[in-house]
Amino acid sequence: MKFFIDTANLAHIKEANDLGILDGVTTNPSLMAKEGIKGNEAILNHYKTICELVDGDISAEVLSVTYDEIIAEGKILAAIHPNIVVKVPMIKDGIKAIKWFTDNGIRTNCTLVFSAGQAILAAKAGATYLSPFIGRLDDTNWDGVDLIAQIANIYAIQGFETQILAASIRNPLHIVKCAEAGADVCTCPLNSILGLLKHPLTDIGLAQFIEDAKKM
Ligand code: G3P
Repeated sequence: MKFFIDTANLAHIKEANDLGILDGVTTNPSLMAKEGIKGNEAILNHYKTICELVDGDISAEVLSVTYDEIIAEGKILAAIHPNIVVKVPMIKDGIKAIKWFTDNGIRTNCTLVFSAGQAILAAKAGATYLSPFIGRLDDTNWDGVDLIAQIANIYAIQGFETQILAASIRNPLHIVKCAEAGADVCTCPLNSILGLLKHPLTDIGLAQFIEDAKKM
């Protein structure tokens, strides 16, 4: 399973990248706004900086919602760097645009996915990645990890090549459960990635080893 970080925060991206386990970055308009990135030039420059920091797939989301505008915006984003993956919302014009991008050699990440039906449509259109939002499903009393397992099963049966990119990850257990359920990628906030390190018995054991090492 690949590990992406889900943020536009450069310090978080650097910290995760320094661990040596980072395969890519995802962003969205909310995450970009949180970092105070405003205006077209600043947005494109920020994506460029992320591409220079991380050698992996970098999702850059279109802000348009109509076919022609999504295509025009996606072309500009894709031209920033070969590692850019154009992130497109799961709407009718988005699916049409994903098909166009696929036919024209531009890789895509279909976002805001909440059902298996949407996952089938995105795969038919040739999306490179599919982003089901696990945490937001859990928030509405549906099991987000169950959706990952259902989509993984459908994609395996049907031979779809679209990679399942589990998004809206809120904690380390989400990552473990998504790995079990067959996600190809987990995109996570830095805290969830670092949370995987934690176990009290590791801390207790290490403290004991350090103490005993003094007696050696
Ligand atoms: O990748 C999608 C993610 O950023 C959404 O996360 O926590 O806002 O549901 P969240």
